Amino acid sequence: MKIFVTGGTGYIGSHTVVELQQSGYDVIIADNLVNSSIDVLDGIEKITGIRPEFEEIDLTDRAATRDFFVRHSDIKAVIHFAALKAVGESVHKPLEYYFNNLNSLMNVLDSMREFQVPNLVFSSSCTVYGQADVLPVTEKTPRHEAESPYGNTKVMSEDIIRDLMKVESKMNALALRYFNPIGAHPSAYIGELPNGVPNNLIPYLTQTAIGIREQLSVFGDDYNTPDGSPLRDYIDVVDLAKAHVVAIRRLLEGKNKANYEFFNIGTGKGLSVLEIIHAFENATGVKVNYKIVGRRAGDIEKVWADTTLANTELGWKAATPIEETMKNVWKWQQSLR
Ligand code: NAD
Ligand code: UFG
Repeated sequence: MKIFVTGGTGYIGSHTVVELQQSGYDVIIADNLVNSSIDVLDGIEKITGIRPEFEEIDLTDRAATRDFFVRHSDIKAVIHFAALKAVGESVHKPLEYYFNNLNSLMNVLDSMREFQVPNLVFSSSCTVYGQADVLPVTEKTPRHEAESPYGNTKVMSEDIIRDLMKVESKMNALALRYFNPIGAHPSAYIGELPNGVPNNLIPYLTQTAIGIREQLSVFGDDYNTPDGSPLRDYIDVVDLAKAHVVAIRRLLEGKNKANYEFFNIGTGKGLSVLEIIHAFENATGVKVNYKIVGRRAGDIEKVWADTTLANTELGWKAATPIEETMKNVWKWQQSLR
């Protein structure tokens, strides 16, 4: 059974390819390598013993995308990861983000419709909720207006998929709203490869611990949270990858209850920035040089998921303790020396 994974050499995509292959699926990846390296295929092969098929394709190229589907008539489902994802950059380059994230999605959907590939799993984000009034957020929590062009591409992508599913009754789509993905594969053969100075907490933290960065800035300790630093729902990337396998299985086995569904994928627990730092220090024995600074513009105070729907409907639950995630991400950081 062959699954087409767009953006499959990226951070979450590569971990998902590993879990798919280990579950017996054949995988073909298309990626334009704008934010990933071809070497990721070596890591996947080391873990699974299987080198996934790969094609370098820019999915904003309509003809190239269509041609891909013409040549691969054995694809049964698509997992669409390919997107640009830097929130700050999207504010400065809105058109590039709308162009890339929306055109790639529409080209994939258009070919799926034409070549009758019925099943799609889409990478969405808890960014669609913004700062929710009531926590934790359930799938019934209203979406808020997006705070960045990146976030807006997720809102718009969900709407495009929802509207298409209304008229394509033979197609099925399932959006996974990821909370904050962190960690690396326990083998340390794959993990997150941030470009330049990291924006996200965990890569900045591990780069500080190893001495690439001098000090981690904690953006604010005056929020309305127990220790004053913001709360997020940090989900281990391998647990997240496994959610894609159960989502694909649900669609392939026809167990979905509607032809467009969406699920929160998190742990159900909020951790503060300071708690994350201490969890890392406890798990690794390595001290992190950090300093409390002012709030970062655009940050929300707190968000975490109610994961009841994913637990009951998908039969999926986050399983990796935070200490293990921290050990894995430290092993990964050390492997990059
Ligand atoms: P990533 O940048 O590591 O992976 C995305 C991959 O898509 C990269 O390999 C990139 O080269 C590829 N790509 C981008 N545009 C492309 C195009 N036009 N054609 C072909 N390939 C293209 O990012 P990630 O963290 O693995 O995220 C995967 C998906 O999950 C994205 O859609 C992202 O928006 C979403 N998401 C990520 C997070 C997070 O915090 N990492 C949170 C919520 C949602
Ligand atoms: N933080 C610091 N110092 C840093 C980096 C981050 O204190 O150097 C704090 C932030 O203020 C925030 C928390 O760590 O409170 C997490 O920040 P990240 O940048 O790691 O993650 P965000 O929650 O801001 O954003 C993430 C993804 C986005 C996505 C969003 C909602 O990066 O793509 O979750 O899904 F849109």
